[in-house]
Amino acid sequence: MAKLIGDGRRLLPLVSTPHKGGRSALTCQFRCGNACAHDVANTAGNAYFGDVVKEALSRRGMLRAGALGALVAGVGVAGAAPALAADPESAATTSGRPSGGSGDLRFTPVAPNKEDALRVPDGYSSSVVVRWGDPVLPGAPDFDFDNQSADAQNKQFGYNCDFVTLFPMGRDRGLLWVNHEYTDESLMFRGYAGGAAATEEQIKIALAAHGGSVVEIERAGGAGEWKLVTKGRRRYNRRITAQTPMKFSGPAAGSDLFKTAADPKGLTPVGMLNNCAGGTTPWGTVLTAEENFDQYFVNADKVPAAQKPYATRYTLTNGTPSSSRRFDRVEERFDLAKHPNEANRFGWIVEIDPFDPDSTPIKRTALGRFKHEAATTTLSRDGRLVAYMGDDARFEYVYKFVSKNRYIPGFDRHNRALLDEGTLYVAKFTGDSPAAEIDGSGKLPSDGLFDGAGEWIPLVSGDKSFVDGMTAQEVLVYTRVAADKAGATKMDRPEDVERNPVTGAVYVALTNNSNRTAAQVDEANPRPSNKHGHVLEIVEKRNDAAEKTFGWSLPLVCGDPNDAATYFAGFDKTKVSPISCPDNLAFDRDGNLWISTDGNALGTNDGLFVMPVRGKERGYLRQFLTVPIGAETCGPLITQDQRSVFVAVQHPGEIDGASPENPVSRWPDGDQPRPSVAVAWHAKGAKIGA
Ligand code: FEO
Ligand code: CA
Ligand code: CA
Repeated sequence: MAKLIGDGRRLLPLVSTPHKGGRSALTCQFRCGNACAHDVANTAGNAYFGDVVKEALSRRGMLRAGALGALVAGVGVAGAAPALAADPESAATTSGRPSGGSGDLRFTPVAPNKEDALRVPDGYSSSVVVRWGDPVLPGAPDFDFDNQSADAQNKQFGYNCDFVTLFPMGRDRGLLWVNHEYTDESLMFRGYAGGAAATEEQIKIALAAHGGSVVEIERAGGAGEWKLVTKGRRRYNRRITAQTPMKFSGPAAGSDLFKTAADPKGLTPVGMLNNCAGGTTPWGTVLTAEENFDQYFVNADKVPAAQKPYATRYTLTNGTPSSSRRFDRVEERFDLAKHPNEANRFGWIVEIDPFDPDSTPIKRTALGRFKHEAATTTLSRDGRLVAYMGDDARFEYVYKFVSKNRYIPGFDRHNRALLDEGTLYVAKFTGDSPAAEIDGSGKLPSDGLFDGAGEWIPLVSGDKSFVDGMTAQEVLVYTRVAADKAGATKMDRPEDVERNPVTGAVYVALTNNSNRTAAQVDEANPRPSNKHGHVLEIVEKRNDAAEKTFGWSLPLVCGDPNDAATYFAGFDKTKVSPISCPDNLAFDRDGNLWISTDGNALGTNDGLFVMPVRGKERGYLRQFLTVPIGAETCGPLITQDQRSVFVAVQHPGEIDGASPENPVSRWPDGDQPRPSVAVAWHAKGAKIGA
């Protein structure tokens, strides 16, 4: 909606940019700075692998084992240890062996809908755990939509919640960590007039509403509900914002590429931005992923000539729309004409210790810089720490980091250095079917699967670069450029990556890619104009996360099951739920894959789905939950006792034309929409989904 300002000038609509798929233009504007409206950043000449020589046949045996779910449960997956360590109530529940998994799921799926409500299956309940604006720190005022201030927001729960994880403190208490990915000022403030016309207080509120929160929560009742602790001492509660002092560690710390007027040593970045998904470490810290950081900077076209190609590769040069947040108006560092290195200080995996409110968050440079989505840790067979990561943009790559040293349970000082020393790899996927059989229709090739082999290409290890013409520090700061040169495979927007705690297989959500052309399809990204996305399964050689080769297949090609170009691992498509735009992934301890969606291009609300990935119900995908209109589903987290499912309901009501005067959603309280973390449980405390 165009807005009138005082002199009668009609400002351009805040959200006028064309957008594709099921996401509202508001979401495109505020989340990613209209990334889809701009040219694809990756113009590297490396091949779509439909062009690549097929080399997979020798690896088919391994691949089939994964594709058919034939891997034995409990096959020594070290990665189960980190998953359990980060889950609540592990002490109370680790005695039980994983059950049959798929056969246990018996709920009636939630039907697709466009309601302004969080819907769960019959027999289940849900409630809101914590909302945007809820008091987090001592002295925080109660939320007052019409009397917001930066001082209050610095002490209150931030805006759009994304990654959610829970650290147990005994059976009935826990620390909830939540990312606050981005702000939508047009829904946060009445009459918001856009960047240049925003008040300085609004800009400061937005800076404070980014980042993350640590909040103490406690069980309510015996069935699976959790609530925010609102009374008594909450010693761990913490807000991290775009202004929190941080530090760099790892091989690029102190790099010339980080040095600014405010930090001449290149060691102390300030704040984190656009934290999307994340992960946890076996030693009980959070890894949070800075994603679309580019949109917060202005004047990228004025950086020194030598930096311009890199600024372009990271889409910093997309320009400064009149509606941008204009953080530079209150903090000059966001003006790249004056501080060209400031943008290099964002786009990292940030480690935060939720149990030490005074700790300084650490940007771990060994994990590279890109539009980070997840950082899922696991252990290799010999005990090294492995982190899987996606770069969420069209035609970007899948990465993993393998530590040099081994994880030693209980040796905290040693373990906390693991993420500073190791090798960063990027994935190359090769198909095993003739290119002519990957015809873009979504029809399976004659061997019955979209599948093949892959390799992890090393980019950098400590101060050793494996990329011609780039130093190790350059590889870490300009990782996308290094991966281009290494010949990585261009994927359909790699989002979350998760490892199955039962089988050890690794799953990558590839959310969509409306820009892939028919000439660009390959077996790992087999549909042009891929509106609905797919899920890719990786089985590492020897099921070892540190290996350099793997097999892969696509168990799920999303969309309306009536569409011939969809695939649900061969399961009867008359029984599955429609799904579009897979984003965040999670596993329950039985090894069922939970998938949340963002931007449902089938026209109904986003939701949370569950799909067995082994046994005869592999591919039997069912919708467990839907979120209110305009929202995406984030999190998700299934507790270790499988009695509670946490989801972040991000940007409820973010629909074109919505405003505080004309809200499309009034969730959760019948007033202005408030991004919130919710929990769902079976009313009688039964296992989720059973
Ligand atoms: Fe913030 Fe890639 O989703
Ligand atoms: Ca094939
Ligand atoms: Ca995401």
